[in-house]
Amino acid sequence: MKPGLDLSSIVVLTGAGISAESGISTFRDAGGLWEGHRIEEVATVEAFERDPMLVWKFYSRRRINAARAAPNLAHEALVEFAAENPGVMSLITQNVDGLHQRADGREVLAPVCMHGSLHQSRCTHCGSTYFDDFSYFDDEGNYAPGQTNLCDLSQRSSPEYLHHYKLEYAKFLPLSPCCRRPLRPHIVWFGETPLHLPRIDTLLKKAKIFLSIGTSGVVYPAAGFIQVAKAMGARTVCINKEEIPQAADIDEFIQGSATLKVREFLSSLGSRNG
Ligand code: OAD
Repeated sequence: MKPGLDLSSIVVLTGAGISAESGISTFRDAGGLWEGHRIEEVATVEAFERDPMLVWKFYSRRRINAARAAPNLAHEALVEFAAENPGVMSLITQNVDGLHQRADGREVLAPVCMHGSLHQSRCTHCGSTYFDDFSYFDDEGNYAPGQTNLCDLSQRSSPEYLHHYKLEYAKFLPLSPCCRRPLRPHIVWFGETPLHLPRIDTLLKKAKIFLSIGTSGVVYPAAGFIQVAKAMGARTVCINKEEIPQAADIDEFIQGSATLKVREFLSSLGSRNG
């Protein structure tokens, strides 16, 4: 226990591991394949240009899976801590599954979604983004546009919500309502620059505690945040099922599952601050 721990700014970075116990598969557990696909087949601009239908089938399935999942105890523990300690915690997530937002009904922990969001789509021409909970293809890959209910009520009632009646299709693929050009998932693909980097930089600089949860630490720039936070003076903590490559920059490694360890760690902060 470290007495006098500075709790004025806790910055949390989450990865796929925090959603694993909600039933959403992580990226690096399945022999390099992601739902049976190589990443470059489904998660690059080149893949979308080459075979937009395959990409939309893949993301339709991910939307369906995310909508079927529910936030778990780790998502909830973060929200509870943020509600009890207003203004202290900031959350950066690499996840696109929307589970942090769904756990955060009171919007106390608006996450910075650096890799985009499964429940948004973007016009490939002008870049306008829309809340979009449509799966354009069903589980079997058949064209079957339908709502997944991935968006919550406030998103559905916002002017950016993409109503089905606003859409046209070309070869079963959705076109944007603004420019009538292809609509793509609002996801940061490999080779693209993550979103909100200036805001993230500011957060890392003011972090007193940096907590990484459920990320393998192999995809940059997120994998480098722990080092940056440490260099800026933060105490660095990592909760993960297995060790990650940044061991030298981690002050405290907590091995275990997120649903058990996140709440335990956050509750321990009060006593350490004594
Ligand atoms: P990974 O799949 O690379 O890593 C997940 C990590 O979580 C692994 O180190 C697991 O050991 C750990 N883990 C699994 N289950 C856990 C649990 N129940 N509790 C705690 N830890 C657990 O996922 P990310 O690091 O998030 O990018 O991957 C980073 C990025 O690479 C993703 O955002 C995505 C991906 O390709 C884009 O889509 C751009």
